[in-house]
Amino acid sequence: MKYKFVSQFDKREKADVLIFPFWEKSLHSPSSLKSSLDPVFLSGDFKGKNGETFFVYPKDGKETRILALGLGPEDKVTIELLRRAIASALRAVKSVKAKSVNIVIPKHKKIDHKEVLIGFWEGILLSNYTFHKLMGEGLKEAPPMLEKVSLIGIEVKDTTILEETSTIMEGVYFARDLVNDNADDIIPFHLAETAREIEKVSSKIKTTIYDRAWLEKQKMGLILAVNRASHVDPFLIEVAYTGNPKSKKQIVLVGKGVTYDTGGLSIKPTEGMLGMKCDMAGAAAVLATIRTIAILGLKVNVTVVVPSVENAIGSKSYKLGDVYRSYSGKTIEINNTDAEGRLILADALSYVVKNIKPSLIIDLATLTGSVVMTFGELMAGFCANDETLAKDLLEASHKTSDALWRLPLINEYKESFKSDIADLVNSGGRDAGAIKGALFLQEFVGDTKWAHIDIAGAAYWSKSKYYHPTKATGYGVQLLVEYLKHIND
Ligand code: BES
Ligand code: MN
Ligand code: ZN
Repeated sequence: MKYKFVSQFDKREKADVLIFPFWEKSLHSPSSLKSSLDPVFLSGDFKGKNGETFFVYPKDGKETRILALGLGPEDKVTIELLRRAIASALRAVKSVKAKSVNIVIPKHKKIDHKEVLIGFWEGILLSNYTFHKLMGEGLKEAPPMLEKVSLIGIEVKDTTILEETSTIMEGVYFARDLVNDNADDIIPFHLAETAREIEKVSSKIKTTIYDRAWLEKQKMGLILAVNRASHVDPFLIEVAYTGNPKSKKQIVLVGKGVTYDTGGLSIKPTEGMLGMKCDMAGAAAVLATIRTIAILGLKVNVTVVVPSVENAIGSKSYKLGDVYRSYSGKTIEINNTDAEGRLILADALSYVVKNIKPSLIIDLATLTGSVVMTFGELMAGFCANDETLAKDLLEASHKTSDALWRLPLINEYKESFKSDIADLVNSGGRDAGAIKGALFLQEFVGDTKWAHIDIAGAAYWSKSKYYHPTKATGYGVQLLVEYLKHIND
């Protein structure tokens, strides 16, 4: 999509729609729009509530339609509410199949103009996404997308931040595309190929793909066990970006890459399995993140590690009650084959700790249904063994639409992983499930600073809402990029 900017309202070009935002209880329009809008305001049909929209068809002017957009009360507004409001306007614009829009950027008494602009721009770009490649003949017409946006009230100096936001949003699209696509196509090998492609983005990226033979040689018993019933090969994927060669700081991002989760022999019921193409959303987010920071040229060293498998079901399935040996040497008695994410992450995390020796690790995983029960889809939950890391992640979250809340690592619950015949069982039961998932992972990170973000609800919504037009949200890309932007030394 092309965008333009104009500093003054009167200098704008022709367009299909003019989006004009209003604070609730403060419905004042510029003189050129008065004759069109004042009757609407007088009628009381438009109040300016957040996300409220009203089309008006002016007799003359530069646009065919004016869309009055409510932002809610000025003193109660947040950047998130601005994202949602503009998303609601864009939904109205798409419903009339308009392709070009002029958008007036609102002014706020207290909030910095730049922040308002970023919020609006994020809402616009997050909304202006479609995933239509799986639509068949007859449905081929792609859903309406904006082709041209002109932002009104912008100065030249604002364009850098608009460009940066656009790059980050392309990262979000990249992650969404991987999650929305067929699990039959997005197999571990495909994620490996994707990681190879990312290498081309920058000479500072090096991708290494480890195949089954390597996993066997390294004795990554858990990754191999989970993948056993699948007809596709498992991979461990490593992408390293050296943006600051002088620094010793090395941040590792680990993403759960289960390309489909049937539950294995502990098979999921239909409703539970339905969304399980999303089980590689952690992998998608970390791959999209490293690609994005390489394009932005951030001065950080980041390595992405993705264990990727398919948790299939069949005669070769790994078995409940059997004991499998992890890369770390710890043995695991399987009491639920559906708790597979933590198994492949365990091998990946101990690989990272032993071979990369990072300054810190952040893992993203669609790990538990429990986190969905706790937070629903609007927020991800996380655990961390380091206060600074936890604080930095929360700060990054506040600046983006990736909402996050911390959960405690309740040590006492570690006893639920006791096994009579092995070092650990893989499921400690469903109560406090999100916390227990994190406690299991903690067994494999040693003293390394670490945070685990459970994105099971946040990554894949049951229906489109706000600025997420498809199920896959791309959760984590904005959060991680924002976090990495503030790493210095
Ligand atoms: N992939 C699922 C978690 C999930 C649930 C992701 C809902 C997205 C939406 C994970 O592998 C899983 O099955 N977890 C189990 C763990 C349990 C057996 C300890 C769960 O949450 O039921
Ligand atoms: Mn599972
Ligand atoms: Zn899973």
